[in-house]
Amino acid sequence: MRTIIEPFRIKSVERLRKTTPEQREAFLQAAGYNLFKLHADDILIDLLTDSGTSAMSTDQWAAMMRGDESYAGSPSFYRFESAVKELTGFKHVIPTHQGRAAERILFSILCRPSDIVPNNTHFDTTRANIEANGATALDLPLPAASDTQARMPFKGNLDVEALERLIEREGAERIPLVMVTVTNNSGGGQPVSMANLKAVRAVTQKHGIPLYLDACRFAENSWFIKRDEPGFEKYTPRQIAQQMFALADGCTFSAKKDAFANIGGFLCSNNSRLAELETRLLILTEGYPTYGGLAGRDLEAIAVGLGEVLDPDYLEYRIASTAYLGRHIADHGVPIVEPPGGHAIYIDAGRMLPHIPRSQFPGQTLAIELYRHAGVRSVEIGSVMFGNHAQHELLRLAIPRRVYTQSHIDYLVEAILEVNERRNELRGIEIVTEPPMLRHFTAEFRPLSG
Ligand code: F0G
Repeated sequence: MRTIIEPFRIKSVERLRKTTPEQREAFLQAAGYNLFKLHADDILIDLLTDSGTSAMSTDQWAAMMRGDESYAGSPSFYRFESAVKELTGFKHVIPTHQGRAAERILFSILCRPSDIVPNNTHFDTTRANIEANGATALDLPLPAASDTQARMPFKGNLDVEALERLIEREGAERIPLVMVTVTNNSGGGQPVSMANLKAVRAVTQKHGIPLYLDACRFAENSWFIKRDEPGFEKYTPRQIAQQMFALADGCTFSAKKDAFANIGGFLCSNNSRLAELETRLLILTEGYPTYGGLAGRDLEAIAVGLGEVLDPDYLEYRIASTAYLGRHIADHGVPIVEPPGGHAIYIDAGRMLPHIPRSQFPGQTLAIELYRHAGVRSVEIGSVMFGNHAQHELLRLAIPRRVYTQSHIDYLVEAILEVNERRNELRGIEIVTEPPMLRHFTAEFRPLSG
C-alpha cells in the first residue's frame, strides 16, 4: 500500500470548538493581535508549538498510574534512568522539569564571561542561558542554509570549517563546549547528518572540547539519517540514535518533544566531576536527584515515550505528514523553508508578502490572518521575536505529535492556499506596546489600513 496512515487509533477525543471569522476578529482585538494572548479554547488547530502538546499513548497513561511519588529513590526514577541510559549510553542522567532547566544548570557550570559556545543554531532559551552567564552564543550554520529556497539534505549541519577557524582564532580555552541541535529547530527543523556529527566530533576531540547534543528531536533526526544518508538504510532508528549519542560527551533534552511527554527533560554527561557539580545545582533549584522537579508519573511517561518515538511506523508517518503539508502549500506557490523539516513547516512570510516591509512584521501579519481566516494558531519567527537580529521573516506551523489527523492537515492546506490567494490585499501591522524583553509573548499590535 502506498498510503501512509496514522499508525494509531483514537480512544479518547478532545472537542474542537468552531468559531466565526467575526468572533475571531473580536478575540484578536482583545488579545492585542498577539496570538500568545488568545484563549486556547478559541483556537481550532493549534500549531503554536510541538512542545508538551503530544497525545500520550495508552501505555504512557497506564505507566503514569504506576508512578511512584516517593521523595527519594522512586522506582519511577530508576525506570526513567535506565530508559535514558539504554538509549544514550551516558553515565550520568539528571532529570529536570524541562529542557531549559538542563541548559541553565549546564551553562552556569561550564560558561565564564568571554567564553564562546558554538552551535549549528542555538534555540532561543539556549542562547539566553549562555548569555545570562556572560558568554557568547554563536551560530555556525552552513552558509547555503541562509537561502530558504535551497533544497539540500541535512541543511541543519554545522559549518565544520567555520568551527575550525573559530578555534584557531579564539583558542580552545575560550570554548567550554560545542553544541549541535538535532534537528535544527531555529534553522527550519532541518536535520544534521551522521557525517557532520562525526566531523564535528573529530574537531572537538582534537582540541579537547566537549561536544553536546541539544537532542530534543533526536528521533526525527534519526529518521532523516535513515532515509537520506547513504549507508544508514539498514539501521533501525534506535541504532542510529545510539550512534549519534555515542559521538557526544553529553546532552540536554526536552522530553516535551520526542518523548511524547507533557513536561520534563534531562541533562546527561560522562564526566563524573561535572555531574556532581550539576547535581548540587539541581538540588538548589529543581529538586532531589531522583525526581529533578518532576512527579514520578512524569518520569514514567518519559520512559515509555522514549521507546515509542523510535517506532519506524510512527517516524515514517510523522515525517511524511509534515512533508505533505509542506509540499502541498509550496507546490501551489507558498514559499516555505525548503525542504520540509521534521516537526514544523516554516512559511517564508517575507517572500510571500514582499509588499509588507520588515518594520510592519510580515510574519505576524500572516499569523493574524491565518487565525482570522481559519482559526489556526501559528507563531512568528522573525522581527517580532528577534528584533533587528532576525535573519528571515518566518511563520512556523509546528505540528503536535499524534494529535491531528490527515483531514486536519488537508484543512490547513486549504486555509493557507486561500490566504495566499489574497496575499496582495494583506496590510502590515504596527507595534503599540513594546515591552523591553521577550516581546513576542507580550507586545500588542494594531493593523495598518490602506
Ligand atoms: N532546545 C530546542 C531545540 C528547543 O526547540 C527547545 C524548546 C528547547 C531547547 C527548550 O526546551 O521548552 O523544554 O525548556 N522548544 C519549544 C518550541 C518551546 O516551541 O520550539 P523546553
